[in-house]
Amino acid sequence: MQELQQILDQALQQFAVIGDEAELEQVKAKYLGKEGSLTVLLKGLGKLSAEERPAAGARINQVKQGIEAALQQRRDLLQQNKLAQKLAAEALDVTLPGRGLGTGGLHPVTRTLERIEQLFHSLGFATASGPEIERDFYNFTALNIPENHPARAMHDTFYIDPQHVLRTHTSPVQVRYMEANQPPLKIISSGRVYRVDSDATHSPMFHQVEGLWVDEEISFANLKGVVQDFLQRFFEREDLTVRFRPSFFPFTEPSAEMDMSWNGGWLEIGGCGMVHPNVLKHVNIDSEKYLGFAFGLGVERLAMLRYGVNDLRLFYESDLRFLKQFN
Ligand code: PHE
Repeated sequence: MQELQQILDQALQQFAVIGDEAELEQVKAKYLGKEGSLTVLLKGLGKLSAEERPAAGARINQVKQGIEAALQQRRDLLQQNKLAQKLAAEALDVTLPGRGLGTGGLHPVTRTLERIEQLFHSLGFATASGPEIERDFYNFTALNIPENHPARAMHDTFYIDPQHVLRTHTSPVQVRYMEANQPPLKIISSGRVYRVDSDATHSPMFHQVEGLWVDEEISFANLKGVVQDFLQRFFEREDLTVRFRPSFFPFTEPSAEMDMSWNGGWLEIGGCGMVHPNVLKHVNIDSEKYLGFAFGLGVERLAMLRYGVNDLRLFYESDLRFLKQFN
């Protein structure tokens, strides 16, 4: 029985230094497994006399229980350690302030577009739209810009294929709308347009607002009234005036550049004119009966003036420090 005490002491000593669960189970087999030292002793009980057997059996079982208890204790400890390590590694500081979800906001150009549309709606204009990938026909030909016309080169066009372009202006919407509707027509159409151009005041993608009013008695005076009224409201300045400079666009006749008064000088804000009879002819509108004006305004230009932004590229750099100022 001296031997039993030794087995127990040895087992407890061994368990106490094991740091790994798998290893612990292997060492357990040394004592309690099929060939384990305790198992062998238990099997040997049969060789003892009937008197000796109960006491010896009880003693062996006692040691066995002692080993099992120590084993379980060690298992629990190893598991606790493992959990503690995991918790330490995945530490989460629930007292940190949350990052918060940004609420987002509208881009200054979007805000400007919405403001422009709202103002024109209040002047009785409906909204129309057209594709950004436009047929060469609508972007040029139907607007009285035949093939090989120098105006095509002037536009620095992005071609998709020989028949399709990224629209260089919003004027093709005029044609599409007049194809589908009969006068009186009174619409604006805003959106992205594209030209091969890039510097502080030009971006390869920018926005225009097109205006079109076709009816029986529409004149240049109406055009001036509408544009001036719009600009005065847009900039909230009643003293703002508009002037026209003679110019050329193939799809208007006469044509003009529009300037508005600004800080004692004049700033160009777009082009305009009376819809050319050839354009009306293309869409089967009787140019003897109907007259119309059209204009195109640069949206970024209006946004820059309204917000005091001096470099157009800032709008398209997606720098939140810049964009947040508008919300
Ligand atoms: N589409 C012309 C441009 O982009 C502007 C314009 C529009 C001129 C309507 C006349 C009439 O330059």
